[in-house]
Amino acid sequence: MKFLLFLAAMCFAMCVGFHTELAQSSPNPRVRDLGNDVRNLFATKCAGCHNAEIGKPEGRFGYVLNLQKVAANPELVIPPKASESELWLLIQDGEMPPADSPFGKLDAAQKQLVRDWIAAGAPQPLNTRKLRQQPVSPKTNH
Ligand code: HEC
Repeated sequence: MKFLLFLAAMCFAMCVGFHTELAQSSPNPRVRDLGNDVRNLFATKCAGCHNAEIGKPEGRFGYVLNLQKVAANPELVIPPKASESELWLLIQDGEMPPADSPFGKLDAAQKQLVRDWIAAGAPQPLNTRKLRQQPVSPKTNH
């Protein structure tokens, strides 16, 4: 009987703990914001040479932070086929960023992130949603 009580107490503790955990985590912890992660990676590792704001971007590629434009250019990305995407091939072969880049190279996990992003269909960052909010229309009684 004592054992049963113990079990019940354990269950209760676990349930309470579980709920607290859920309440504390981000709104949707299971969805990985690949677009956002990739954009952050490009911002630190690529934008120094491929950003529109620098006068003469390298390789005439100056929009690495415009994921929409990158994803829409079949010469760079063919979602969801990473192995056919020039952007991935350059990264996989270690050609981009160049070996002497002052911003450092990509580690295995960072490379994998780019691959995952393309394989997921090269999505936009989820957090741009707030920019596209519809204006609130007045309530009607129909
Ligand atoms: C230190 C500067 C530098 C950094 C950092 C850099 N690149 Fe480049 N990138 C270049 C240069 C230079 C070229 C042109 C190479 C050539 O024409 O042979 C180029 C060319 C490219 C091209 C080919 C453009 C085209 O349309 O032919 C792509 C794609 C590219 N880079 C992607 C990236 C990505 C993605 C990163 C970050 C992971 C990155 N680069 C980081 C210097 C850089």
